[in-house]
This record gives sequence, C-alpha cells and structure tokens, in this order.
Amino acid sequence: MANLTDLTVTVIGAGNMGGAVARAIRKAGVSERRLVLFNSSEESTSRAAREIGAASAFELFGSDATLATAVAESHVIVLGFKPYHLEAMAPKIAPHVQEGTLIVSLLAGASLDTLSDAFDGHKALVRAMPNTPIAVGQGVVGLMPGEHASESERELARALFEKSATVVEIPEHQVHGVIGAAGSASAYFFLIAEAMIDEAVAEGFTRAVATDLVVGTMLGSATLLHETGEAPTSARYAVTSPGGATAQAIAALEEGGIRALMARGMRAAADTSRKMEER
Ligand SMILES: NC(=O)c1ccc[n+]([C@@H]2O[C@H](COP(=O)([O-])OP(=O)(O)OC[C@H]3O[C@@H](n4cnc5c(N)ncnc54)[C@H](OP(=O)(O)O)[C@@H]3O)[C@@H](O)[C@H]2O)c1
Repeated sequence: MANLTDLTVTVIGAGNMGGAVARAIRKAGVSERRLVLFNSSEESTSRAAREIGAASAFELFGSDATLATAVAESHVIVLGFKPYHLEAMAPKIAPHVQEGTLIVSLLAGASLDTLSDAFDGHKALVRAMPNTPIAVGQGVVGLMPGEHASESERELARALFEKSATVVEIPEHQVHGVIGAAGSASAYFFLIAEAMIDEAVAEGFTRAVATDLVVGTMLGSATLLHETGEAPTSARYAVTSPGGATAQAIAALEEGGIRALMARGMRAAADTSRKMEER
C-alpha cells in the first residue's frame, strides 16, 4: 500500500462516528495537516480538529471556499454526516469530486446504488459500517466496495481502517448481518456488563471494584479468544469443572434462554436495518 502520509483525506461530518474514523485514519498514517475536517460550523470543526489532531477546512481554505476546495483537493472523502443530510449535501460535494478520489460512506441505510446516484455515478465508492470501539483502536468494520471500485481503491479503504479495526470485506447484502453481529453488538456487551456489575454490587463490592472485576474479565476473555484463536466452546470447557460453580452458572444461563435471546437480539438489529434500507 502506498505511503498514506502523502494522502489528503477530508472527513465531512466528524461527529461521533466520523470523528472516531478520523482518529483511525490518523493512526493509519495520514498526517495532521492532510486530514481535513468539515463540520456544520467553523467552531465545531475547529473543536473536532483540535481534539482529533487534524486540520480544519475553515482554517486551511478560509470561510468561503471550504467544502468545494476541500473536496477538490482530496484523495479520499469520508461521509460522516447523518443519512438524512445526503440529499442536501451530495449536490454540494459531487461537482468537486475528482475522478480518482475514493468516497468512503459511513451512512447507515444509504445503499451503494443510492450513493452512486447521489454522486453522479462516481466509481470509486466504498461503504463502511464501523462500530464505536474503533474510537479506541479496537473496532470492527464491514467494508462494502462498489462494483466499480478497483483493487487498489479497496486496498486503500482497508488500509485506512486496519490499524484501528478488524476489517471484514463483505457483499453489500450482508450489511444487516454485520449490524447485528458487530455494528450494534458493542451495546449488547455494555448491557451484559451493566447487569453483571449490578449483581457484583449486590454481592457487596463497591461499584468501582465491581466494574474492575467485570470489565477486566470481559477484556481478558475477548483477548484470550482473539490471541489464541481458541473456539469459545473449548475456552468455556476449560473453566467448567464437573458440578462446579461455573457449570451451575452456565446451566442457569441456558435455562434462562441466553442463546435464543442473543439470537433474537441480533435478528432484531438485522431486521430493523433491512427495514431502514427499504424506506
Ligand atoms: N454512531 C454509530 O454507532 C454509527 C455506526 C455506523 C454508522 N454511523 C453513521 O455515521 C454517521 C454519523 O452518525 P453520528 O452518530 O456520528 O452522528 P453525529 O455525531 O451527529 O455526527 C454528525 C456530523 O455531521 C456533521 N454535519 C451536520 N450537518 C453538516 C453539514 N451541513 N456540513 C458538514 N457537516 C455536517 C455534524 O457537524 P456538527 O458537529 O457541527 O453538528 C457532525 O459532525 C451517520 O450517517 C450514521 O448512519 C453511525
């Protein structure tokens, strides 16, 4: 992959997700002066630029030129605004996009066809579906290249994310499954953490100690699976002695229908995403 320090990347909408992706792009090697942010106001752009360690389009190009100039000078444009802003934003962006510029869209529910229409059939197009742990360099992102995206453009999209996320390239129709298994999934683990911390508090630990116990165990368990490649079932067997405490805990969770419940939650997220795309 080409040296990313020579790339100019503009993030239009560096909010929660766009800002986290901007951090990932900095980590990928794009330099501070070449990572250009553009938010809805000069003030919020400057704030985001300061926090992320990036440049503000307003400072670089002045208050009047901004969006058109930033877009025209970019090798990569990341769309990080809300999907309902696409209709208003696309006509301001599309005329200035250079032929070889890669557009990376974070917009949930905006299909590659919709994006292609909005950007006058632009070929270098990739959809990305990240989750919020990308903000701490431990995300997961589903990348969906448009049918005309070249191999080097797909590789570039991958390089922008891979220092901060596990990157999975998927056909677009699988985006709903990715939302169920990763996009929304950090929230399932947050909910499980919340429930476990409450129970540890009920056992008499302070909330701070309970949080250390639960979050430390979550982190360690995920790291163990990630680093050893061990199957979850075999890792679980290793802590489950016959008739012991873990065996009783697992039996209680199974009796409560934990597997069916997790499947129901994931299916609800995927189905909701399908419906959103149909609208
Ligand atoms: N949050 C998630 O977990 C998640 C996951 C996957 C995908 N996404 C996608 O990420 C996108 C952003 O979601 P979010 O949760 O990050 O929203 P957000 O925090 O509200 O960020 C939206 C950003 O868009 C900017 N913006 C609004 N109007 C603009 C304009 N006219 N010109 C330039 N920038 C403008 C906002 O600027 P100001 O700060 O100045 O208002 C803000 O920086 C959405 O398309 C969403 O579908 C989010």
